[in-house]
Amino acid sequence: MHTHDIPVIAIDGPSASGKGTIAQLVANTLGFYYLDSGALYRLVALKTMQTNTNINDINTLANIAKDLDVIFKHDKIFLGDNEVTDAIRTEECGILASNLASYPQVREALTARQRAFCQTPGLVADGRDMGSVIFPNAALKIFLTASAEIRAQRRYKQLIGKGINANIADLLQDIQKRDARDSNRSTAPLQQGTDAKLLDTTALSITQAKDTVLAWYAETCTNK
Ligand code: C5P
Repeated sequence: MHTHDIPVIAIDGPSASGKGTIAQLVANTLGFYYLDSGALYRLVALKTMQTNTNINDINTLANIAKDLDVIFKHDKIFLGDNEVTDAIRTEECGILASNLASYPQVREALTARQRAFCQTPGLVADGRDMGSVIFPNAALKIFLTASAEIRAQRRYKQLIGKGINANIADLLQDIQKRDARDSNRSTAPLQQGTDAKLLDTTALSITQAKDTVLAWYAETCTNK
């Protein structure tokens, strides 16, 4: 099967919108592979911190992205021999990831790695530019969002659940800053593509959101 015949569901949207949770559930239901593209940007950020790389040294940053020694194993992520599943989820790592993601050279260095996730029987990919840049031929493109306030509340619950201290007002501010940075950058900005369907999950449960994606995907299969 050619790569362009393999079905891809691209789910893009802002930070803490729940797209990761929903994308994973959809992938499990369909038996598809799952790509968390944000994790790759977070891994580049973690490695940048670990190696004390100057964040203006774009060549070295692009090399870090190109040479990332990462393994995704079930629900765990390894960088070299170290498990970094939780280490990449800190706010610090997310903020640095968002800064590094504005460099076209870093994005370019991660492109082939992301496309390699596209394997039979299919892929659910989540991020910011899955439908616009990485998988422009995706069978279904979704822009999944929720109000910034709801996203801050969800992130708060997630962090507290993991035993990490958090403050809703600070989280809301971080989310708004990250949205602005991700939306205003010149390379692959976060925006709803004209061919993407809007899914606003502000008033939806996780199950309702997942079921909506599955119903839309079923429609694309019957319309083929
Ligand atoms: O989705 P997540 O919050 O884990 O992503 C971390 C950061 O990586 C985002 O704020 C965004 O700047 C960047 N990113 C990106 N393109 C993607 C996925 C993530 O620019 N496809």
